Amino acid sequence: LSTIKVDKYRPKFHFSPASEWMNDPNGLVYFDGEYHLFYQHHPYGTDFGAIHWGHAVSRDLMTWEHLPIALAPDEKGMIFSGSAVVDWNDTTGFFDGKPGLVAIFTHHNPGLALKESQSIAYSKDSGRTWIKYEGNPVVTSDTYRDFRDPKVFWHKESKRWVMVLACGQTVCLYHSPDLKEWSFCSEFGKGIGSHDAVWECPDLFALPVDGDRTKRKWVLLVSIGDEPHIKEGSRTQYFTGHFDGRAFVPDEASQTVRWLDYGRDNYAGVSWSDIPEEDGRRIYLGWMSNWKYARSTPTESWRGAMTVPRELTLESRNGEVALIQRPVMELEKFRTPLVEAEGEAVNELNLLLKNHQLETYEIVAEFEPMEGIDSFGFKLRTSEQEETAAGYSVKDSALYVDRTRSGTVDFHEHFTGKHQAVLLPDMQCLQLRIIVDRASVEVFANDGLIVITDLIYPSSSSLGLSFFCNGKNELPYKVRIFKL
Ligand code: FRU
Repeated sequence: LSTIKVDKYRPKFHFSPASEWMNDPNGLVYFDGEYHLFYQHHPYGTDFGAIHWGHAVSRDLMTWEHLPIALAPDEKGMIFSGSAVVDWNDTTGFFDGKPGLVAIFTHHNPGLALKESQSIAYSKDSGRTWIKYEGNPVVTSDTYRDFRDPKVFWHKESKRWVMVLACGQTVCLYHSPDLKEWSFCSEFGKGIGSHDAVWECPDLFALPVDGDRTKRKWVLLVSIGDEPHIKEGSRTQYFTGHFDGRAFVPDEASQTVRWLDYGRDNYAGVSWSDIPEEDGRRIYLGWMSNWKYARSTPTESWRGAMTVPRELTLESRNGEVALIQRPVMELEKFRTPLVEAEGEAVNELNLLLKNHQLETYEIVAEFEPMEGIDSFGFKLRTSEQEETAAGYSVKDSALYVDRTRSGTVDFHEHFTGKHQAVLLPDMQCLQLRIIVDRASVEVFANDGLIVITDLIYPSSSSLGLSFFCNGKNELPYKVRIFKL
């Protein structure tokens, strides 16, 4: 759209709203060749406010067409987060026997003590216009004040729709034959996982383990809100387990929290519904911000961006089944190769990198860490005053992103900092995939095992890129760099 204002922080290949405020992705659903992306949107300001569902569609997950607002607040409240499904068999009766789209969302009315309830709306024209169901709300609570973010899917085995809903600091599961009448099934979350703050935006889906469809596990994603004393702010945890159509049972009742991302800026992420079986992927998208400072980030006519869409898989790694994230392959179509190098001498690699002025790009690299090296990695978006370091500390066995000198960091006291994650050095090889857009870095280490997603706000003139290796002048490397 020609009306979109491009400024120095406007992402080149990450989704951002045409203008004004955006938070969570909502209603991710694939239908009739289009990936739909709805999102929490305040159309009259760059701050959180009267929340609507904004809307965009894409055929390749990378280039998006902005569409008119899908759902606006009404007498029942604002339109908080939720999901969308294809009602293939017209279980709702909304579609005269044909397939159609149903959105399931939270009505949020701050004036009421029980301020949240779940409602539905349907579209007969591929999401272009929506009709709210006259019987709304369809799920209410007489206890929970925080009662929101319904994620719905069709559970084949029990022939029921299943809803997973955030309720205070647990999730509740409901089921329904027609998306209108819902019955409570079970509650999960007491005494397990992180209870640092309110639970939000759950998602529940099955994935094959190591690609074997006969060995499936269920994954439950739960976003955890921000509280003043939690320095990380808002973030997302996950559980693996078993689901029989009524209750989620975790694999282990252990207290170790498993985080989806070790950066600060991947929140409220959920996955696409109804991706055709021939494709078979589970594709995830998160809001690339953090409630700690989301309302003060230094963009002008718009605020908020999404992560790169990521494929989720379950893989056995280091003796346990881990949730793995990789950027969707559609990203690769946008690559222009710039550098391909293999060697050991650090200064030779830097001579190659010096030739380039780079704003948006991808690094794909492999290293063989050796004795005597403290840390190594890349300095991104550099100038004399600025740099963002993304690297591996051999000494601490940790992957990290350091954004203390990344550009504008002073808009909030909790923005600056270094974020790290333990990544055990039992490997012969450390793999890094780093995706840099105008205002973000996403680091995927060891083929998606550990991920750090961080916003950065560098000057437009900070375009340098270099490699560093503390402790030695050589380190076996293979590096490819693509412009994006
Ligand atoms: C998560 C969240 C949701 C809520 C929405 C409001 O970021 O707090 O729980 O539905 O944002 O915009």
